[in-house]
Amino acid sequence: MKIVSIKLKNYRLFESFEITNIPAFCVVIGANGTGKSTLFDIFGFLRDALKNNIRQALQVRGGYKEVVTRGKEGEDIEIELQFRMTIVNKERLVTYSLIIGEINNRPVVKREILRYKRGEHGSPYHFLDFKLGKGYAITNEENFDKTDEELEREKQELESQDILAIKGLGQFQRFKAASGFRSLIENWHVSDFHISEARGSKDALYAEHLSPTGDNMAVVAQYIYQEHRDIFEKILSKMKERVPGVSHVEAKNTEDGRLILRFQDQAFKDPFIDRYVSDGTMKMFAYLILLFDPKPHPLLCVEEPENQLYPSLLRELAEEFANYADRGGQVFVSTHSPDFLNAVPLESIFWLNKKQGITQISRAVNDENLKALIEAGDLPGFLWNQGWFEGVTP
Ligand SMILES: Nc1ncnc2c1ncn2[C@@H]1O[C@H](COP(=O)(O)OP(=O)(O)OP(=O)(O)O)[C@@H](O)[C@H]1O
Ligand SMILES: [Mg+2]
Repeated sequence: MKIVSIKLKNYRLFESFEITNIPAFCVVIGANGTGKSTLFDIFGFLRDALKNNIRQALQVRGGYKEVVTRGKEGEDIEIELQFRMTIVNKERLVTYSLIIGEINNRPVVKREILRYKRGEHGSPYHFLDFKLGKGYAITNEENFDKTDEELEREKQELESQDILAIKGLGQFQRFKAASGFRSLIENWHVSDFHISEARGSKDALYAEHLSPTGDNMAVVAQYIYQEHRDIFEKILSKMKERVPGVSHVEAKNTEDGRLILRFQDQAFKDPFIDRYVSDGTMKMFAYLILLFDPKPHPLLCVEEPENQLYPSLLRELAEEFANYADRGGQVFVSTHSPDFLNAVPLESIFWLNKKQGITQISRAVNDENLKALIEAGDLPGFLWNQGWFEGVTP
């Protein structure tokens, strides 16, 4: 399952924004305040809305008046995502669109639609369609041979007008597109790694995936060591190559039944506990744990992975992000690092450009100059430094 396009209207600095043909590995560059974090936050917004409701999702972002584009206060916010998913043995392009507005100063879902084509021809069919808390979903979605009249519409009235229909219906397997989309958004992972939270001993609670802050790193390291020894060895050999002196890393059980990470330096007999190893050592280990995850997240967002890392390591790190995307997880990365960008294929690069408070996006592969220069052997990070990404530098 992959997101292929995002269309936004009046969502913060995205007054009228569209990004299409999104690759599995998508890297966004742009000056400070041009909307990189805001773009990734669309997934966070939808996840919050699914978990609770749109009122709460807006509230934690400052409320409707803060989220709607400045100057567009009386207008609706629109979010439209297109994704590919297999339904009844065929890959289909599904569109989810959401219109949020305010009625009597309360945010409401004015329209929510899931649609896709049933056959080769014809226009997309609405499998779910709700207006202000009332609507229908098709229950025999997989019966593509039926006529429109034969499809069974299940009418529903939601508890309130600020709840997403996919929240309730997405729980049922029979609503294929709704449950697929819901699970993609729920399993979305944003990495917000805090070195300080990764440090220290941890309760040995079971975990297979690194948490957003990385506070369960020791636990996941132990899981990979125990269940996927070959992967652990690979992570270890990368650590040895990249961080001078590191010869071994282990998650050690403490006497009080907790877990702590220990880093062995080949020069010394006793290992260092994680509190006393460097920030970059922790960060590199965290990325390796994240990117060599035996089961990649369907959707991963990472902001500025370059922080704390030595520039020459970023090339390989970028390749590891690309490999992660190849293994099935879609990856969105933002970066301020030319060294990182040097290892990113042109097809993956997008840049943001803000004018008069409103941001537009450009795609590197659509720029003839950039394409020709890359074909002639230039690297994107160097071209970025030289000003070839038009309008990106303030
Ligand atoms: N409702 C709104 N209407 C218009 N612009 C807004 C709105 N809300 C926020 N902004 C703008 O969006 C900016 C935030 O952008 P964002 O945090 O996504 O930038 P970024 O590209 O991640 O920057 P950085 O590189 O500094 O992390 C704010 O600084 C503000 O200028
Ligand atoms: Mg940001």
